[in-house]
Order: sequence, then C-alpha cells, then structure tokens
Amino acid sequence: MSIDDTSTLSSSNKPREQDHEHENALISNLVDRYKDKLTTFPIEKGCVFGSLYMYQGFWYLSQHKLSIETLFALHETFIARPNDVYVATLPKSGTTWLKAIVFSTVNRSRYKYNCLATHPLRVSNPHKCCPFIETEFYESAPTYNDTHSPRIFGTHTPYTSLPRSIIDSGCRIIYMCRNPKDVLVSLFHFSDKVREQSGDLMKINDAFELFSKGVMPYGPYWDHVKEYNSASLERPTKVLFLTYENMKKDTANGVKRIAEFLGYPFTDEEVDQGSIEEIVKLCSFESLKEVDQKGNYHGVPNGSYFREGKVGDWTNHLTNEMCMILDQITKEKFNGLDILC
Ligand code: A3P
Repeated sequence: MSIDDTSTLSSSNKPREQDHEHENALISNLVDRYKDKLTTFPIEKGCVFGSLYMYQGFWYLSQHKLSIETLFALHETFIARPNDVYVATLPKSGTTWLKAIVFSTVNRSRYKYNCLATHPLRVSNPHKCCPFIETEFYESAPTYNDTHSPRIFGTHTPYTSLPRSIIDSGCRIIYMCRNPKDVLVSLFHFSDKVREQSGDLMKINDAFELFSKGVMPYGPYWDHVKEYNSASLERPTKVLFLTYENMKKDTANGVKRIAEFLGYPFTDEEVDQGSIEEIVKLCSFESLKEVDQKGNYHGVPNGSYFREGKVGDWTNHLTNEMCMILDQITKEKFNGLDILC
C-alpha cells in the first residue's frame, strides 16, 4: 500500500474477505512454524487478546497479528533501511498520536495544509499511514519494499528484542512513554472495548493485579521504558525519548524536537507561516477522533484508539491503595532515574 495514494488508504479501511483469508493463512503458517519453540515459554492470562507468552523477559501475544510468531519471523527476514523511522511505544502510551505527528512532520511538503481535506490523516486512522512492522506481514500489499522514503513504522517490541537490522542500520527511533497509572487505565478501557462483544469484561482490580506483576502485552511496563530510556542515553542521535505528559504540555515544542531529531527542521519561513501549529491541530485528539469513525485497523474499531486523551485520568479509576502500590513499584524499578515528569 503506498501512502501516496490516499484513495487506497480509505478504501483499505473496508477489510475484504480475501484479505482476511490471506491474513489467517499467514498467521496459521507462522503459528505452525514456531509452535515447538512456544511450548517452552512461561504463559500468563492476558487482559486484551488471549494469553501472553514470555520471551526474553517480555510478554507477547500469540496467534495474533501483533504476536511473538510475527516477531520471530521478523528476526529472520526483516531488513531495515538507514533512513527508516520507527515510532516505538508500549500499547496505550499515545502510539496513534505519535504516529500522526511523525507522519505529518516528515511528509509536510508532500501533503499541504491548504489541501487538508485530502491529507491522509483526514481520511485514515494514523495506523494506516504508519503501520506496525509486525502487522505488515498481513497487509495484502506490504510497504516493506515501498520505494517511498523514509518508511515510517510503528512497533511495540522492546528495544533489546528489535530485529537486529533495525539497530545495525543506524535508523532513527522515537519512543514515547506515559505515566504507568494512565497506561493501566487506558489499557483497561481498551480491553473492555475489545472484549465487549464476547461479554467477558475485566474488573479494574484484575487489570491492576496483572499490570503490577508486569503482565501486559510487551510489558513489564517498567522494563520496556527503561530499555528505551537507556538506549536514548547511549545513542542520543538515534533514539529520541519523549513523554506523553510533556507532549501534552507543549505539543508544538515536541513537534519541533521531532523534526530536528529526524533531520527535517522547520525553516524560519515555515515557523512564520504556522506550520508547527498546523501539525499540532491536524494531530490533535479532537481532529484525529473524527476521522473514519466507522473504519477499523485490523479489526479493532478506529474509535477504540481515542477515549479521553488526557493526563491524570487515573484519579477517576484507581483506588488510593492501587496508586500507592504502583508508585512504589515505579520508584523501585526506576531507582532514581529521571524518566517520568
Ligand atoms: P486514554 O485511554 O487515556 O484516553 P495508543 O495510541 O498507544 O493506543 O494510546 C491510546 C491513548 O492515547 C488513549 O488514551 C487515547 O485517548 C490517547 N490519544 C489518542 N490520540 C490522541 C491525541 N491526538 N492526543 C492525545 N492523546 C491521544
């Protein structure tokens, strides 16, 4: 799928029968290929899409498009390019928002703001514009070999388990973390949305128990954040570390930093013309939420990616005791690191 073609983006929101069959066949094939390996891994009840399997210290889904099987396949086949850009996050840390910001910043000369109606982000969910490397296996027309540069991909994979080629290529990675209490609350609501059809809803206490044990897709939360944080300190020109909270506080400054980090700084003329503010507006919660409300990304309704979009909603959902426990775990795990603001 080429991001040049916005009509392709919008029509691909409607999953076709043969796409599903193709995806299911690929998943079965991968599950079959790695089934022996998987039997040796610790397993836990998950809170969103079925059980989770532990690999290299992190929890992964199985038999899913974003899964351990896909990661194994990526390890064997994926070739990164030096000018690729990777948007790395834990689920519910603002992935959708960051993908939109990176996509619109990098492509700002291709998609003019005076043609807002046809900008890909006014037509499609950001996940369609910046697919996950993991889901690319299942796209009917993968962007792996897309000639357009730079390619922008999302990933939830922990830093040390990324396909080696991503690190070796010297490409850039932008990571965004979010306060763990807001990640937990967001994950809990997302899990409700995903599970509501089966009626198998989760209680906040159960979600809390799992989260505080580190059990969430791509968790433990603290280890995921720490790995990317130390990578950003070791390789500051290759890994940029951001927080959701700082991005909310001053989104324009975040956009500016991202542009500079990627080597696409805003010119004085662009600044005078209000380019940064245009991106902030285009990628705002209110704006993205309105787009293709009936569409979905790999079966997950677009609306599930937009709930409150605020900092501190945990105060409305977690008990004092839960907060104290999470704060204590965070203090111990981060052990003086200046990560969260
Ligand atoms: P809440 O559930 O707290 O509202 P992800 O994209 O990683 O799945 O994260 C989803 C979270 O990001 C949700 O948080 C969602 O509302 C929030 N979000 C989505 N788009 C956003 C935007 N443009 N600005 C700020 N937050 C956004």
